[in-house]
Amino acid sequence: MTKDTPSSGKLWGGRFREPTNAFVERFTASIHYDSRLFREDILASSVHCRMLANQGIISGDDADQILAGLAKVRAELEAGKMAFRLDLEDIHMHVESRLKELIGPVAGKLHTARSRNDQVATDLRLYLRGEVDDLNKSLFQVQLSLLTLAEDHVETILPGFTHLQNAQPVSLAHHLLAYFEMFGRDRERLADLRPRLNRLPLGSAALAGTPFPVDREWVAEELGFDGVCRNSMDAVSDRDFVLEVAFAGAVIMNHLSRFSEELILWSSSAYGFVELPDAFCTGSSIMPQKKNPDVPELVRGKSGRVTGHLMALFMMLKGLPLTYNRDMQEDKEPVFDVVDTVGGALRLFADLIPGLQIRRDRMASAAAAGFTTATDLADYLVKKGVPFREAHEITGKIVRICVDKNQTLSTLPLEAMQMVDVRIQADVQAFLQVEASVNARKSQGGTAFATVRAALDTARAALDED
Ligand code: ARG
Repeated sequence: MTKDTPSSGKLWGGRFREPTNAFVERFTASIHYDSRLFREDILASSVHCRMLANQGIISGDDADQILAGLAKVRAELEAGKMAFRLDLEDIHMHVESRLKELIGPVAGKLHTARSRNDQVATDLRLYLRGEVDDLNKSLFQVQLSLLTLAEDHVETILPGFTHLQNAQPVSLAHHLLAYFEMFGRDRERLADLRPRLNRLPLGSAALAGTPFPVDREWVAEELGFDGVCRNSMDAVSDRDFVLEVAFAGAVIMNHLSRFSEELILWSSSAYGFVELPDAFCTGSSIMPQKKNPDVPELVRGKSGRVTGHLMALFMMLKGLPLTYNRDMQEDKEPVFDVVDTVGGALRLFADLIPGLQIRRDRMASAAAAGFTTATDLADYLVKKGVPFREAHEITGKIVRICVDKNQTLSTLPLEAMQMVDVRIQADVQAFLQVEASVNARKSQGGTAFATVRAALDTARAALDED
């Protein structure tokens, strides 16, 4: 809990005559959200401290006291025992000030060759590295759920849509694998941004470097970074790694949002393609029959919020002169909310997908409606030597006759088709069946059962390798 206390004993208080205005303290404090960085802060401080001792910048004795003290502070924070104070601003000040209470003035040596500017950038990179790895694992779980469901539904046929109009019949597994691909690219995006994120700012100090003989490479290695940030000014002012995480998160939410939209449509009475698990739905306080798809709706809604955070981060950064500016403290709430929201949505989807009940009969009857095999009739004519554009025209006329006579392509008598074009023969019937239409699409990446089975094998092998 944060509480108002009189301003006194600031770690930077030396040059000040007056205490800080109480509302300024409240306005500028970040402890109520950056406290979540405490593990990273203490880890980076401990490694920094050991480096200072290794390099002879502080004594081994002093380092031992600081390390023991930091371990205690960490245990207190883990146990939720630390009372947060607005006058101590942020997590970095809280840790240092508690360290001083525990071990005395030697605590002040920890901040040698360091500034909060390189400290906060280091903590945030460490923290987001862990979050990126967690998001990657959650995406894997969603892919696994999709793949497992898809493996049961190679031969379940539903209409594929364009413009939300029935277009061509497809295998449900094929449809689900489309999302498998999207989440696969999302994982690639996270893997791609990780090495840029995973670089060490510490040792840049306030902005210009430090006169002390620090060993940044050693610190980087101890903290599992892939290398150091090469330029001290860039190191303390760069936040494009935050933008990249927010962007990757916004794309994931966009994919989840499109899937959500389909689940919402598909679970409506008009479609009736799927039933969502009860555990993921809510009822209505007035209409007893209602079972509402709240989880997909909220995920769809939250995709707007995550994209909003990405925009907020861009706006916050775009006019900042080098190097650190306090504006940058505003990076945390948006990016924390991005990783929380995206992580939560992925966890929900990984659990929701296996609970979906697929209504094969509803999908099958919808797949046959709306002349979804019209392209197959045109393709049939092409195989008889008719140029595709002409075949398209002929088929369009036949569809119009069907509409007028309230027939489907497979119920319309052959003679009626032959009135439009004599090249249409009895063998056309085989082409007008929904399943034949699906299986005709054997091109690489297409929806034919055999092609989809091969795609499932490839997908399964890719997941097994992870
Ligand atoms: N709480 C600050 C932030 O998140 C830490 C860095 C403060 N540095 C400073 N020069 N005031 O940005």
